[in-house]
Amino acid sequence: MDKLAETAIGQIEKIFGTHPSFRRAHARGKSYRARFTATGLAGHLTTASHFQEGEIAAFVRFSHFSPDPTWADAMSPVKGMAVQFQLPNGEVTNIVGVTSPIFFARTPEIFTEMLGVVKSFKKGKPSLTELADLLADYPESGAMIANIRKMQAPSSFATGQYNSVHAFYFINQERQRQPVKYLWEPESGTETLSLLDAIALPIGFFETDMEDRIAKGPVMFRLNVILGQPGDPTDDPTKEWPENREKLTLGYLTITEKAPEVEKIMFDPTLVTEGIECSEDQILNFRHHAYKISHDRRISEI
Ligand code: HEM
Repeated sequence: MDKLAETAIGQIEKIFGTHPSFRRAHARGKSYRARFTATGLAGHLTTASHFQEGEIAAFVRFSHFSPDPTWADAMSPVKGMAVQFQLPNGEVTNIVGVTSPIFFARTPEIFTEMLGVVKSFKKGKPSLTELADLLADYPESGAMIANIRKMQAPSSFATGQYNSVHAFYFINQERQRQPVKYLWEPESGTETLSLLDAIALPIGFFETDMEDRIAKGPVMFRLNVILGQPGDPTDDPTKEWPENREKLTLGYLTITEKAPEVEKIMFDPTLVTEGIECSEDQILNFRHHAYKISHDRRISEI
């Protein structure tokens, strides 16, 4: 896996350029300090300590998906929200979400192959012939690409909905397994931008907007868990679960102030704690290797 991850990061650098000390994806972003207040409503489904009733500290980083930090905000319609929970026993655990509910590749091999084909990803637009070739080879990827074309970026980091994309398992006291996905919802309501409005935004608008909001008071998100049913795919990030699945509110994140020191942190999505397990999803498990390579490179470049 490490070798394939090296190849994938190499392809990203070839297509988007190498930007020393920046993350190899989601390069531009801002980090904040927060508190997470759990409702305890999923206490019968998981023994995870941060989902039992109570309050803990957390860090959050919002980002634009592009591996090139110089891209304008509008060129990255997909935004990221990475949260690290500080558990009472000193451990940490992460949830890493994006504004898209699905990913474009089913396996790390397909992801790396697709990057190999895209040689001219300039300012967010691969050539149409390259896109047509890709879609012919990987029809499941079309859903994500069609989604991005339709997708309106949120008007602010504070007004996006962020999906874990991958499934995880909650494990309870009786060792029963419940497949779940996470969804962060903004307490102030979701809001999108029209493409025209987005194009008019100056670079860094999203970061300045967050600063302005936090200066006026905390920014809040609700963490929901979506409960999978038998037959819902747990190993395929290109597939969404049906809309009508039951949701539980796990808790509320209150974002209070900037935390620039967190820029260095690695938000590995596979870092889970007792009471939670990663699913079999190959992309999820591959990310552990890719993030480590990116983290090692960017830290050595500071
Ligand atoms: C083959 C699949 C993927 C690869 C190779 C990949 C690669 C990367 C890399 C290299 C980073 C920077 C890590 C660091 O330096 O700390 C990153 C960050 C990120 N990725 Fe992925 N990624 C993949 C899939 C996904 C998926 C499916 C999601 C959806 C949730 C996602 C969401 C994010 C977010 C939100 C960040 C920013 C995290 C932060 O703020 O530190 N990625 N990705």
